[in-house]
Amino acid sequence: MADQLHTREPLRVPLANQPTRGHWLRYDAGVKVWLKRDDQTGTALTGNKVRKLEYLMAEALAGNATHVITCGGEQSNHARATAFAATQLGMKSVLLLRTDDPEKPPAPTGNILLDRLVGAEIVWISRTAWRDRERLMAEQAALVTAAGGSPYIIPEGGSNALGSWGYIRGMRELATQLADIASPEKPITIVYACGSGGTGAGLVMAAKLFGLADLGIRVAGINVCDDRPYFTEADIDIIDGHVGAGYAKSRPEELATIRDVCRSDGIIFDPVYTGKAFHGVVTELRKDPKRFGSAVAFLHTGGIYGLFASAESIVAML
Ligand SMILES: Cc1ncc(COP(=O)(O)O)c(C=O)c1O
Repeated sequence: MADQLHTREPLRVPLANQPTRGHWLRYDAGVKVWLKRDDQTGTALTGNKVRKLEYLMAEALAGNATHVITCGGEQSNHARATAFAATQLGMKSVLLLRTDDPEKPPAPTGNILLDRLVGAEIVWISRTAWRDRERLMAEQAALVTAAGGSPYIIPEGGSNALGSWGYIRGMRELATQLADIASPEKPITIVYACGSGGTGAGLVMAAKLFGLADLGIRVAGINVCDDRPYFTEADIDIIDGHVGAGYAKSRPEELATIRDVCRSDGIIFDPVYTGKAFHGVVTELRKDPKRFGSAVAFLHTGGIYGLFASAESIVAML
């Protein structure tokens, strides 16, 4: 496979272990499920975010950045991945993390522990201040500049046009792997957890670019926050109705699905993204076994460290 993805492909710095493998699950969801293991893009850099960061960090390096600034929820996988990628590439990181009460930061579990371990500077911000996150990141950038450094700002989730290239490349990998499984007569659907939308944007653009609909490969996102109108442009298929108790809040049935997949296949899903979206797949299939065609290709986007922040509610399911 040629490494050059497209003549317009921007600069990329290799960070992810790729191609990631895929395999069928034993778990009985109603139809067969093939799992794309983007949880294996790395260890500290596990998950979908690292694919976006390959392009974003390349731009930061090209501009001689000394500090990378980004934002997210308190257990943000993206913020953790950004902090590790920055360190691996010789830069520092500043993370604006949203929490209920910035005066009383949350316990250092899961991603927060890793953010601390790698030496990221954490700026806790309230839910109200979050609405102003772009200005607050610009303020942090000004501080870096005033101290003689050179800042590079990455938006929430690494989701902008440049970051979307990560899943244009990711989809090329995936489509090659699915070529033997899918056909117009036996269509399959790639399903992913949709948060800030960048992963979906890349997948949907790539599906068009590579003409995947003609090969029997469709793409659908399950939103884990917001709602369908928030994400939906004409060509983006978002399956709403599975946000449940709210972003980063779990219902017992979602945690039970995480437990069951772990027990059937030894696969770890997280409560906020992959577990919630996969529970959505199972729920949709219960309503309509033909919903996704002959099989589902579920994109495992990582998020494993977030599991540790939900230890108490998960233990209650065991
Ligand atoms: C584990 C995991 N899966 C899925 C997503 C959703 O990806 P995106 O923000 O690109 O929609 C995220 C990030 O938000 C994530 O951390």
